[in-house]
Amino acid sequence: MPFVQVRGKKIAYAVNPEAYDPSSLALVFVHGSGGDREDWRDQLTSLSAVATALAIELPGHGKSDGPGESSVGAYAAWVADFIEALGLSRVMLVGCSLGSAITQWIALMGKPWLKAIGLVGAGARLRVHPSFLDGLKKDDGAGALSLLADFCLSPRTGAPLRPLVDQKMRAVSADLVYGDLKACDEFDVMERVREIAVPTWIIVGKDDRLTPPKYAEFLHREIKDSALHVVEHAGHLVSLEAPARFNSLLTEFIQQRLQCAKGG
Ligand code: COA
Repeated sequence: MPFVQVRGKKIAYAVNPEAYDPSSLALVFVHGSGGDREDWRDQLTSLSAVATALAIELPGHGKSDGPGESSVGAYAAWVADFIEALGLSRVMLVGCSLGSAITQWIALMGKPWLKAIGLVGAGARLRVHPSFLDGLKKDDGAGALSLLADFCLSPRTGAPLRPLVDQKMRAVSADLVYGDLKACDEFDVMERVREIAVPTWIIVGKDDRLTPPKYAEFLHREIKDSALHVVEHAGHLVSLEAPARFNSLLTEFIQQRLQCAKGG
């Protein structure tokens, strides 16, 4: 698993293919609260046909050095520094949930290497129900983590994904997830999101209970150059719950809007 040094910390990431040209189009995936590169496993394998596919592990997550952060701005600075440390010059940033907030933040920073964004299970504001935040501070946070795992998926999603997500949530630190959810809870760019000027691809599961389709519709209304897809039978983790649909819609967007295959 590759690492890159960013501000003296090791930041872990997955990349496919391992040998790539940093000036070609790079799809950089950013996971949500308590997540890691595994959240993008189906994208890392399939989307390398249209671009270099990378998935960062935020500080404190997966194999990256800790600690985690508790604000979207701080995480956004790590992601931007990561992209610059790798020397990527044509990037489509795709973020889920907390990752979508980080992606919007970077789009509002106006980085020259950012050519498009993807917002997955997203919102311009991400208020968090107090039962999650309070629950993470009680006992060892196990109840809240289990509830969060349940809310991440469509009620229609069963095995093997449901036990996998549940197991993953049990394995993460409650303090780390608390910081991530605090970052979400304080995030609010409702008044600014219309300033996003890059082409924007928005996708949401119809059954998403953490960021309902209403949030994605708001983003689509406000961001002038945006496309919205609502996917049936999927919840907050649509990239894992409906990978074939997710990948074909994203491939189509890249081919139409970024007009290039790898190297273009
Ligand atoms: N995009 C569009 N509309 C939004 C929005 C967004 N990102 N965030 C909130 N709104 C809307 C709400 O739907 C609500 O509309 P309404 O008045 O027509 O019902 C209004 O703005 C006010 O919402 P909000 O500020 O969130 O306050 P609230 O008191 O309605 O709800 C919570 C607060 C925490 C109870 C609510 O956000 C919730 O149930 N969250 C649970 C899901 C969760 O924790 N998600 C975690 C996200 S990472």
